[in-house]
Amino acid sequence: MDTEHKPGPSEFWDEFYNERQRVWSGKPNGALVREVSMVAPGRAIDLGCGEGADAIWLAGRGWTVTGVDVSAVALGRAALHAEDAGVAERITWLARDLAEWEPEEAYDLVTASFLHSPIELPREHILLAAVHAVAPGGTLFVVGHTAFPPWAHHPLDDVHMPSADELAGALGLRPDEWEIETSTSEGREATGPEGQTAVLTDAVLKARRLVKE
Ligand SMILES: C[S@@+](CC[C@H](N)C(=O)[O-])C[C@H]1O[C@@H](n2cnc3c(N)ncnc32)[C@H](O)[C@@H]1O
Repeated sequence: MDTEHKPGPSEFWDEFYNERQRVWSGKPNGALVREVSMVAPGRAIDLGCGEGADAIWLAGRGWTVTGVDVSAVALGRAALHAEDAGVAERITWLARDLAEWEPEEAYDLVTASFLHSPIELPREHILLAAVHAVAPGGTLFVVGHTAFPPWAHHPLDDVHMPSADELAGALGLRPDEWEIETSTSEGREATGPEGQTAVLTDAVLKARRLVKE
C-alpha cells in the first residue's frame, strides 16, 4: 500500500513559498507588459497570481484587480508588496483552489501567467473557465511554458504543455467570437528561484472577445 503523504495544492505551494523569503523577481512578466500596456484599463483577474507582481503592475496602470492563488503565503506577500507600491486599494486577493473555484463575474482582462504546477493541476479546465469570464470586448492573456524549467520541483512527466496555437484550439476560441491578437512561441533567458539561468520557451496567447452586434 502506498502510504506516502501527497500534499494538496495549498500545502504544496505554501511549502514552496515558505522555502524562500521571496521566490519571484517582483517584476511583472515581460510578455504581459508588452501585450497589455496598450489595453484600456478596466476590471482584471489574475489566475495563479503568486507574489502579485503582475496584479500590482496592472493596478498601477489603473486596473481594478482580483488576484487569485491557492497559496495564502504567496498572497500575504502580494498584499504587502501592493501596500509598498501604493495600490493596495485597487486589488482584492483571493485564496482559492482554481481546480474547484472559478470566476463568478465577467472581467475586461483575464490573465494567467505560468499557471503550471509540478503536482496535478487541471490547467485546461481552469483556462476554459477563464475564457467564460472574459466580458464582451475583453481580453484573455495566457503565457505559459512549453516545457518545465530545469529548476521545477519533481515535474510530472505526462503533462502536455501546449503551444499558443494548440491552446487557442483547445479553448475553442472560434474566429466568429474571438480575435487572436497574439499567438507566438518566444525564447527568453530566465532566472530560477536559486539564481540558476536557462533559456525557456514561452507560449504567449492574447485574444479579444468580439462584441456581438
Ligand atoms: C509558476 S507560479 C506563477 C506565479 C505568477 N503568476 C508569476 O508569473 O510569477 C504558479 C502559481 O500558481 C499557483 N497555483 C498552483 N496551483 C493552483 C491552484 N490549484 N489554484 C490556484 N493557484 C494555483 C501557485 O501557488 C503559484 O503561485
